[in-house]
Order: sequence, then structure tokens, then C-alpha cells
Amino acid sequence: MSKSRRKFFIDTDAGTDDAVALIMAMKHPGIDIVGISTSGGNVPLDCVVQNVLYIKELCGHGAPVYVGAAKPILRILDTADFIHGKDGLGDIGLDLTGRVPEEGDARDQLISTLHAHVGELELICLGPLTNLAQIEQREPGILSLAKRIYIMGGLVTLPGNVTPMSEFNIWADPEAAQIVLGAKAKFTMIGWDTTCASSDFTVEEIAAFRHIDTEIARFCADIQNVRINWMHEHKEETAVNLADPLAMAVALDPTLIDRKEYFTMTVRSGEHADPYRGFIDAIPSDDSSTVEFIHTVDRQRYVSLLKSSMTKEGIVL
Ligand code: RIB
Ligand code: CA
Repeated sequence: MSKSRRKFFIDTDAGTDDAVALIMAMKHPGIDIVGISTSGGNVPLDCVVQNVLYIKELCGHGAPVYVGAAKPILRILDTADFIHGKDGLGDIGLDLTGRVPEEGDARDQLISTLHAHVGELELICLGPLTNLAQIEQREPGILSLAKRIYIMGGLVTLPGNVTPMSEFNIWADPEAAQIVLGAKAKFTMIGWDTTCASSDFTVEEIAAFRHIDTEIARFCADIQNVRINWMHEHKEETAVNLADPLAMAVALDPTLIDRKEYFTMTVRSGEHADPYRGFIDAIPSDDSSTVEFIHTVDRQRYVSLLKSSMTKEGIVL
């Protein structure tokens, strides 16, 4: 008898590395993407929605895309378009207009889908946690209906990428992160430190995606150019850190996990410019019902999964 397909609901602020992560899920034969919720984050919400719809088209995938939170719960939206491009997909001249999402609000859809698939739905969170926090506020306990919640965000080993203490997705909406991590649910977190340890690519490694010779592979390489140029100008090392694809890989294949640890986590708020805004107080725990934090993955197998999603065949199991 064939194994039943897993059900994913992906929450995204697409974003160049969200784009690659979405492709991985769309090109995996064992996953039903029952919904995609969007929020403002890496770029404004309108761009995020158009980007996800473009990626769906590129992959020939039918997942329904819903519009969610335009801004964090309490704060203004502070984007990262200097990394992702003004349009969020690297400003490579794509026509990112005119595509139409599903009717209905992403938060309503998340709630009804969680109720429809109690204990079965896996939530993959690739942006600020605003949508998830708002459904937990609206219906306390709703997140406990998920099978597991995978979060790209945070860190337990410094430094971060926005301040030395914090990572973008948690920093962008720390109040939302606290509501989500304070909820009763099963969490797996892939942090900025996890990304730096296992998902650092050189410019040459990114360029080599093009050898796969598909439209998707060329897209995955081309959209990184704004980030590569920014890194050249502002950092000594030009590494491309693909955070969201790593989180997606862990969700798609948890056997990739190499080293993990459990933590209880509390998120600090902080004023706008406080370096501790979005800092996570992480206390190691023996209790496997606390947050499962991934330190490292098997990089060779991860990269192979990533690249196979860009081939003509997609991921083959
Ligand atoms: O902090 C890493 C950032 O890049 C996050 O926004 C993550 O989701 C990725 O887009
Ligand atoms: Ca993201």
C-alpha cells in the first residue's frame, strides 16, 4: 500500500530564498500543499503575493495562495529588499503583476484547514510569524491542532543577521514570535546559526545551479544577484545563506537532521533600535515537548535534495 501524502501549509514572505524553498516543496512528489499563506516581511505583501503566484506558475503547481497580514502585529513593516530586490525576486525583470490569489483571508484559511485536518497538517513558516500569532490570538489552542510547526527563524548561537542578537523573521515581529512560541504545539526551529552552519553557498556554487540547465535552476541562481552584490559591497566574505530552503529541507526530510537540542524559548520585544529586539532567551531542556532546535544537517544530502528540485524530473524518491 502506498504511504499517504503529507499535508503542508506554507506561510511565506517571499523573498528570494522563500522562492527556492517553495520550489522544493512544489517539486516533491510526496507533499500535498493544501495552502500557502502570505505576509509582509522580506518585501511588502503585494510583492509577496505576486511572487508566490509567479513561482506556482513556474512550477506548474496548483496550490491555493491566500493573502494574509500586511504588517507585524504592533510594528511598522521593515523589509529587507536590499537583499531580495525591490520586487523580492532579485529585480531580474520578471513580470510580477496581474496574477490573482484565492478569495478569502489567509488566517481564516489556516483556521479552517487546521480544523479540517486535526493532527495531520504541517505548517512550514518562512517569514515573520504574524499570521500564526493572529490565529492563535483569535482562537487560543488552534496551533496545537497542527502535526508540527517548522519555523525558519531565530538563533541560539550568536551572531544574528539583523542585530548581533537577532534574526530577521523573529526581529520583524517579536510579539508574534512570542505568541507562537508560547503556544502549546510541536515546534522545530531552523535558525540563522543553523543556516550559517549548513546552508552557506559560495557565488560559484550558486552559479553552478545553472548547469542543471532548466528554467527553474537558472531562476534560482539569477535571483541571488542583488544579495551577492550587496554582500560584495558590505561584507568581507560573499556567502549566500539560503535560510528557507534549509528549513524546507528539514521539513521534507527530517532524516537530514544531524544535531539537535531542545530548548524552552522566550522572545524579547525591545524598542525599534534595541539590539535585543527579537532576541530569544533559550534555555536547554530535557523535555522533548519543548522547541526542537536544529543545529546542523547532513549538508551533502541536503544540497542533493535542493538541486534535485531544480531538475526536469523534480525530486525523485
Ligand atoms: O533571516 C533570514 C531571512 O532570509 C529570513 O527572512 C528568511 O525567511 C529568509 O528569507
Ligand atoms: Ca522568508
